[in-house]
Amino acid sequence: MPHSNLSHSTLPGGLDVITLSNQHGQISISPFGAHLLSYKNAKGIERLWVSERAITDGSAAIRGGVPVCWPWFGPHPTDSHAPQHGWARTMQWSLVSHRDLPTGSELVFIPASETKAPLRSALAVKLIVTLSQQLTITLRTTNLDSEPAFLNAALHTYFAVSDVKNVKLVGLQGQYSDKLCQGQLFETPEVYQINSETDRVHHCYCGNVTLIDGEQQINIGSSGHDSIVVWNPWQAKSQEMKDMTDDGYLTMICVETALTGDVKLAGGASHTLEQTIS
Ligand code: BG6
Repeated sequence: MPHSNLSHSTLPGGLDVITLSNQHGQISISPFGAHLLSYKNAKGIERLWVSERAITDGSAAIRGGVPVCWPWFGPHPTDSHAPQHGWARTMQWSLVSHRDLPTGSELVFIPASETKAPLRSALAVKLIVTLSQQLTITLRTTNLDSEPAFLNAALHTYFAVSDVKNVKLVGLQGQYSDKLCQGQLFETPEVYQINSETDRVHHCYCGNVTLIDGEQQINIGSSGHDSIVVWNPWQAKSQEMKDMTDDGYLTMICVETALTGDVKLAGGASHTLEQTIS
């Protein structure tokens, strides 16, 4: 049975951070957004990237780590005033459980009671993070209503890489919509490398994607998704973004386990979106 330790700290902008460590490594998560900020594996290798200019005072989503996009992805389908990527990443969550299981240590977050009211939604949500030989991030949504409800979501993981220009992605296939070309469809390249701004929704259930970064290899498992999103803002957009350094794009790539289709969650039904990282 692993034995884990929990500790608390504060980010420069004032947000709380909870750090859990066990023999499999260490994770840090901010209750603001239930936002994972760091995952160091048993060898101490950091897998997540956080921008040097990330806003850490709770006035905006944190740039980097694992933003939880929920209950919609991208712009809201009908309300142009609603925040991009949903409410989850800018609301306060509460840690409601910490336990050591035979295979790993688990933290469970739910929206804090003060943030439930503004949601005006019949969707209940829970984020379960398990540190075992791999990191497992599980986003569980339940429709408490009897009517179907719209649901889109993503685990928008920013992976730390040594040089994005040398990274290869293996395991993606089929077609993708290019958000930079009005959603036009293209075939996924056989040798997948990026060398310019990239914003692609891969319409595939590819359950395993491998990110190869020189000697390093990161295995990304996905389930409960309908797409994998690959995003990098590249140089010009990084320069425009106030929470990125000009060259911040060079050491990150987002590979997101996502639900981007027009998904209706039946009354009483639950949905589980999961990403594993090893
Ligand atoms: C990606 C989207 O998932 O997130 C992009 O496909 C978007 O279109 C990117 O630009 C970052 O979004 P945000 O809201 O965190 O700046």
